[in-house]
Amino acid sequence: MNNNGEPKNNVFWHQSAIKKEDREKQHGHKSIMIWFTGLSGSGKSTIANALQHKLFQKNINVYLLDGDNLRYGINKNLSFTAEDRQENIRRTAEISKLFVDAGIVVIAALISPFEKERLNARALFKQGEFIEVYIKCSLEECENRDPKGLYKKARKGELTQFTGIDQPYEEPRNPEIVIDTNKLSIDVSVEILISYLFDKASLVLNTKE
Ligand code: ADX
Repeated sequence: MNNNGEPKNNVFWHQSAIKKEDREKQHGHKSIMIWFTGLSGSGKSTIANALQHKLFQKNINVYLLDGDNLRYGINKNLSFTAEDRQENIRRTAEISKLFVDAGIVVIAALISPFEKERLNARALFKQGEFIEVYIKCSLEECENRDPKGLYKKARKGELTQFTGIDQPYEEPRNPEIVIDTNKLSIDVSVEILISYLFDKASLVLNTKE
């Protein structure tokens, strides 16, 4: 994105009359990106949904971008090759950036298996605006849960390029938060995230003059 006034390929950036900060002030909270990464079956979608609900109840403008759901629409032309996963992450990060610019708290829940792509996603945001949450769960446990029956299919060779089986998952090196779902319940996981957002990230703005 070229938003520093320099035209790029004869395309010109148009400055909005409304700034992100104006929108944040109107909403009474910051806009941030919460990026969930982890193996299939680790609990990303479940915890992300529960977090979204809790934030909504607290009058936070929040929207969840779930990897599976995005693959029904904007990402429907993408497969699970490393190259397509890279494009999946790039698009989701760019869409998330628009949400953040719109003053919204956006949660993305994607396997996003590669560190490089996650770092590229992070680089789109300002310091403190991107919160990476590693939903950590052993492959053994994910495979035991197998909520969609996909690990079984992958083991039988009916599904290829499956993360953790015949494609790698690179653990995040420096995530802001690690949630170990081998040990933690959904409620406790959400509590940890809520206290990080409200205390550490100072999500709510003090709008009293
Ligand atoms: S990502 O790697 O590109 O980030 P994403 O989160 O969008 O993946 O999609 C993962 C979902 O696609 C899984 O929850 C699962 O339901 C489905 N899926 C289908 N094929 C695969 C595969 N080969 N590897 C992982 N997930 C798969």
